[in-house]
Amino acid sequence: MNGIQIAIDGPAASGKSTAARLLAQRLGGLYVNTGDMYRTLSRGILDAGVDPVAQPEKVAPLLETWDLRYRRMDDGSLQLFFNGKAVRQEDIRAPEVADVVSHVAKLPEVRQWMLERQRECKSLGTIVMEGRDIGTVILPDATFKFFLTASPEERARRRFLQKGEIPSQANLATVAAQIAERDRIDSSRAVAPLKPAPDARVISTDGMNQEQVLDCLLAIIQEAN
Ligand code: CDP
Repeated sequence: MNGIQIAIDGPAASGKSTAARLLAQRLGGLYVNTGDMYRTLSRGILDAGVDPVAQPEKVAPLLETWDLRYRRMDDGSLQLFFNGKAVRQEDIRAPEVADVVSHVAKLPEVRQWMLERQRECKSLGTIVMEGRDIGTVILPDATFKFFLTASPEERARRRFLQKGEIPSQANLATVAAQIAERDRIDSSRAVAPLKPAPDARVISTDGMNQEQVLDCLLAIIQEAN
């Protein structure tokens, strides 16, 4: 398939990233993780010595000179670059980034800045783009739109098993509280809140493993062809 756009949205730790990555591989398309873009920007803001929660007005001026883009690598995959440097997962999956990212992502200037950069990805070819507002705002004409959900308990369990983002003293209850707080901010913001597009297929992934989620998405895509 060529030039199709697939939007995958959903709350924190709902399995979007794995589903989007596997789906892109299967379709020979490119995987774009917009959450990584917000996380990278948050890392940059913190590294610039700005507290985006206490000093949100200091964020917009930083954006004027910053560059954030996906580039196609020799092996055909996409790599995110921030101000010319390849972004490393260990730098953006840190607890201090998770603590501020939803506060950064609710700023209208940030969302406009991201919208321009994320829409540019359309020119790269077939894309599977995951985030919170892909089906509603970034790619309203996407060929397929999915909204993945899972119960709060299941999502907390999945996040708890991932390394990096979880502080060493965290337990299941603190992880659950942290992702619930992020979802609350993401769902209640004025611009591009987290919600399914009216034409999205909403899929509950409770009790499904990664392959089962992938098979479910592939079945819907193949059914339409
Ligand atoms: O991996 P996880 O599902 O926990 O989150 P993520 O996809 O890495 O996104 C991190 C945060 O970025 C979200 O909680 C949102 O605040 C923000 N985000 C957004 O506002 N819009 C997007 N399209 C993607 C992420």
